[in-house]
Amino acid sequence: MSQSYDRGTIEDFGRWKEFSAGMWAWIFHKFSGWVLIGYLFTHIAVLSTATQSGTMYTQTIRGLESLAIVRVLEVGLLAVAVFHILNGVRLLFVDLGVGLEAQDKSFYASLVVSAAIVIASVPTFLAGAF
Ligand code: HEM
Repeated sequence: MSQSYDRGTIEDFGRWKEFSAGMWAWIFHKFSGWVLIGYLFTHIAVLSTATQSGTMYTQTIRGLESLAIVRVLEVGLLAVAVFHILNGVRLLFVDLGVGLEAQDKSFYASLVVSAAIVIASVPTFLAGAF
């Protein structure tokens, strides 16, 4: 039997100080999922330059990679991708009923591991960017 209760308008972002860890996990997962979809379209647009000529593709990649902002955005892309994957796997375990009593801890763990991987990637991603 389903239960209902008056939760108020929790979607009101003016109440962000009241948000629990689970609410932040939900927001970050949605945000990262939709950023990945946005990147996917940009990625296809860049790849499609190869249909014109190999030179155009190479010039496009070189042009983009020469911009410091693109290098920084790549670090951001890695951050949302790693977080989405780690938190996504965590959600799949939750859906299977595994680790239900440690959901906050596993969310924090996915944040910490994501941060560690992203920080470790910085020297590679930003090499020669500035
Ligand atoms: C190993 C890789 C991935 C895993 C494990 C994963 C896992 C998940 C899971 C479990 C959900 C549902 C969350 C829920 O219960 O509400 C989800 C949602 C979603 N994922 Fe992924 N995902 C992965 C990769 C991707 C990629 C590559 C993209 C985009 C190109 C993507 C885009 C999305 C979007 C847009 C949503 C819906 C967000 C919403 O609730 O509005 N995911 N993902």
